[in-house]
Amino acid sequence: MGAPRPSPEPHPVGSRAMLPYNIDHVALAVHDLDAALADLLRLYGVVADRREHVPEQGVEEAMVPVGGSHLQLLQPTSPDSPVGRFLARRGEGLHHVAFAVVDLDAALDHLRAAGVPLVDEEPRIGGGGSRIAFVHPAAFAGTLVELVEVRAS
Ligand code: CO
Repeated sequence: MGAPRPSPEPHPVGSRAMLPYNIDHVALAVHDLDAALADLLRLYGVVADRREHVPEQGVEEAMVPVGGSHLQLLQPTSPDSPVGRFLARRGEGLHHVAFAVVDLDAALDHLRAAGVPLVDEEPRIGGGGSRIAFVHPAAFAGTLVELVEVRAS
């Protein structure tokens, strides 16, 4: 029906495969994961669908689905972990925003070419087994950004 849609313009920055297509999750640092999950249930009626210990990052984490995205709650397992140091310095609150990308390597190449400081020069494995990489908060709005490779399944 009607005229065929015009094909999309090439993106001004680059290939769509490297661009965020969703907010995968928003991560909050908390002192007490059980208490935070209880508050989320009591106040907003949402519950975690995954919880795991991620020793490489020194956190116990829970993923709470909200609409098409997740809240990620991070409780440090040691005060010397990055999230432990964050809590000591800044208190509870927003820790990072995670963008879903189709091609993490292409996204990192693009950011490197833009001269952005990366926390992870190479992708690593995050919670749930996804390939992830963190981008330094100095790169954008003082906010730590995580890129999560989520391939269409
Ligand atoms: Co995260």
